[in-house]
Amino acid sequence: MTERNKLKKYKKQTLLVRGGLYRSSNKETSEAIFMNSGYVFKSAEEAKALFSGELEGYLYSRYGNPTVSMFEKRLALNEGAEACYATASGMAAVFSALMSYLVKGDEVVASRALFGSCYHILNQILPRFGIVTHLIDGKDLSQWEKYITEKTKLVFFETPSNPSMEIIDIKAVSQIAHRHNALVIVDNIFASPILQRPMKFGADIVVYSGTKHIDGQGRCIGGAILSSKKHYEEFIKPFIRHTGPTLSSFNAWVFLKGLETLHYRMKIHCQNAYKVAQYLSCHPKVYKTIYPGLKTHPQYHLAKKQMTSGGSIVTFKIKGNNAFKFINALKLFDISNNLGDAKSLVTHPASTTHRIINEEKRKKLNITENMVRLSIGLENIKDLIEDIDQALKVIKN
Ligand SMILES: Cc1ncc(COP(=O)(O)O)c(C=O)c1O
Repeated sequence: MTERNKLKKYKKQTLLVRGGLYRSSNKETSEAIFMNSGYVFKSAEEAKALFSGELEGYLYSRYGNPTVSMFEKRLALNEGAEACYATASGMAAVFSALMSYLVKGDEVVASRALFGSCYHILNQILPRFGIVTHLIDGKDLSQWEKYITEKTKLVFFETPSNPSMEIIDIKAVSQIAHRHNALVIVDNIFASPILQRPMKFGADIVVYSGTKHIDGQGRCIGGAILSSKKHYEEFIKPFIRHTGPTLSSFNAWVFLKGLETLHYRMKIHCQNAYKVAQYLSCHPKVYKTIYPGLKTHPQYHLAKKQMTSGGSIVTFKIKGNNAFKFINALKLFDISNNLGDAKSLVTHPASTTHRIINEEKRKKLNITENMVRLSIGLENIKDLIEDIDQALKVIKN
């Protein structure tokens, strides 16, 4: 029986603690960190057999490493995916997933509500390789219908999107894409591996930044690409092995520890975020609160269909020219562009994470100067609301 089949009977929380566990002959309780770049072969014949694929085993840590494999297996078991390749960052996961497939002349259709670096790849880097990208309003299914054609190699979107919290209908977009034999790649970073499983709705590939909720304590950069075995073997593995954006074993070990508690951490992140969103939505100095778990979110029902909770991120628009004043007045929240951390963080997207997108395009994405993004952590909710409350009091008008 394969390991995957052996573990199948267990619930997700159990898989997140024990999935993929490999113990060396020392029988260590916790996962070991294999800090080695190479492996020793018994004979020249064995090396030859391993390199030709006749024998299975580790060859070189750019290709694979036991600690990294444990992380890959654990994440794949949770996602219900056949395969996973861990990467050096979330952006390495996004870029490698795209470049594993694309060739000159291909077309990509993507929702334009994207993280700044993803936007840069689609808008600046892919066109340099003769790849045509259509950036559309991903909320509008008729746009997907219009732009996905026989020329489309793949579609790409984030849901919820960073930072405007747009929700894309994974099932409907996947159906349109598959009618044209286009591949569906979903950036599931905002939802985390706990709140949303895009493959259940038809996505072919899911990408993560391990840097966010998976680590959850702001320590390591990393990412992952989840797919079927066929996609992994034919496209993703050859691209990553030979271009080299692999995850370090130390970071994989940190992520393994993160996965063990992820289910429970996400519960508190979401509970706290919902309370913060409720509080902000009633505040007279707040113009608009954008949180998928609030009934006022324009796509609340779609979010409810795809996600088990609203997530850890709350975005809001403050009245007047007061975003910087509010951010600087916070005492407990740290000013940082990261998210998904145990510590609550505050970001001004227009001047940081989405600065790379010009002002006119940012406006189209609804990323205005008065927008503030909160990544809600695991602190006591009363302390968080008190901090937001005192910072809003500092604003006079
Ligand atoms: C939606 C989204 N995709 C990709 C990334 C990139 O992840 P990393 O910083 O690990 O490269 C981020 C980072 O904030 C993100 O928010």
